[in-house]
Amino acid sequence: MDKITVHHICFWGVYYLDLPIEYYRIKMIEKIGLPPREERYNRLVDAGWNVFRLRSRDVFIDLLTDSGTGAMSKDQWASLMMGDESYAGADSWYRFKEAVENVLGFPFVLPVHQGRAAERILYTTLLDISKPADIVPANTHFDTGKAVIEFYGGKPFDLPVREALDYKTNYPFKGDIDLEELENTLSTGNVSFILLVLTNNTMGGHPVSPENIRETRKLASDYDVPLVMDISRFAENAFLVKERHPSYRDKSVRDIVRETMSYADHVIMSAKKDGLANIGGFIATRSEELYNRMSGRVVLEEGYVTYGGLAGRDLDAIATGLREVIDEDYLKSRVSQTRYLHKRLAEEGVAVVHPYGGHAVYVDVLETLPHLPREQFPADALAVHLYLESGVRGVGLGALAFARETEEGVVYPENEFLRLAIPRRVYTVSHLDYVAKSLGYVASRPREVKGLRIVWEPPIRGIRHFLARLEPV
Ligand code: F0G
Repeated sequence: MDKITVHHICFWGVYYLDLPIEYYRIKMIEKIGLPPREERYNRLVDAGWNVFRLRSRDVFIDLLTDSGTGAMSKDQWASLMMGDESYAGADSWYRFKEAVENVLGFPFVLPVHQGRAAERILYTTLLDISKPADIVPANTHFDTGKAVIEFYGGKPFDLPVREALDYKTNYPFKGDIDLEELENTLSTGNVSFILLVLTNNTMGGHPVSPENIRETRKLASDYDVPLVMDISRFAENAFLVKERHPSYRDKSVRDIVRETMSYADHVIMSAKKDGLANIGGFIATRSEELYNRMSGRVVLEEGYVTYGGLAGRDLDAIATGLREVIDEDYLKSRVSQTRYLHKRLAEEGVAVVHPYGGHAVYVDVLETLPHLPREQFPADALAVHLYLESGVRGVGLGALAFARETEEGVVYPENEFLRLAIPRRVYTVSHLDYVAKSLGYVASRPREVKGLRIVWEPPIRGIRHFLARLEPV
């Protein structure tokens, strides 16, 4: 092999060979184990047939979520030692604030313990200011954000682009919001704020395009409504824009991130995703007035405004994580793993949602299990069966999470997905191959998957999938 070929394989391997290449090596490991099938069956019985209720020690490969489950770098571990645990005005706070300003460009930031606290405080503040407007249109709401808006009397509307509903096409920006529907909704005069979730987690982890962001900004300004972004996966969104959009190929991820942020009035972030941290989140804004309004809520509900429920060391881990996450070698490895799992599953005959997204591979369960009606929660039934057969844990994103009782009866969501979320810098190619083989096996015997019914559910709308106890039909 001559030098040029070696160079091409090393540097461009992820593109030309279609192989995931990890731009890191492993320094510390955690043992994992695969309990025998009979034991897995018993664990499911104990867990009320809900994979959220399993003990992690009973899971072999855990793709329940990419949230807080990543491996930190040696620089992040070193940052932990720098943590200043002073109650107010700690050095950790200043490093955190500087990282948010440097990477994202927001002058005002409020740390919180995780993303849903940021959702609750920002969304309810905006709902309150805009009374009696109460509609919140989004490209697609995520479960915790949707639930909190409903809990406080708002009306979350999902307005994904039509292309996102056809799971077989390779339309590159299925995370986009439907601009026509958005304008129709805005013209009612009842919109509190617009939300763009980057990437669009509920519909497939797809990126939102720069054009769609710019047009949404324009509509927000025309109708004088704030534009909020949920930027929990902002770096993955920017990387997919660079990979898929011809005009952005030569731009750096750093610049794409800054351009994207320039269109938002306020953002919420779960630092458990693209903060590369195990815990944490924040609200960032350009509005001093809104910052002042929310700061009292943070003191009351989270902690003092310079720590927001986080230890100083967590703020340092996030500050380092925010700088690392826009490293393009890291992002190449990250997205190449998702792309690889997506490709391998398709080769195994699994009905994956196309194209691959940033953090997870989504399986179209209505196509995989056509014999199961929606009221038997096919996505969760598939998650349970996959665990039973292989020890792999994914998560259902379908009727159990998103169906809503209305006066006209039960309204089911468009999506009935099994999501396999890949933790950052944790698993290897052989783990992904194991997942692909296992799900290929399960999907080739759909009749063996039994539907589920609810035995108990919590009294709060929108969160039953986390806590419900179920049983096979
Ligand atoms: N926004 C998005 C887009 C999310 O995906 C999540 C969490 C949150 C907000 C809430 O953040 O967990 O820090 O409170 N998503 C996780 C998931 C739980 O599995 O997708 P959090």
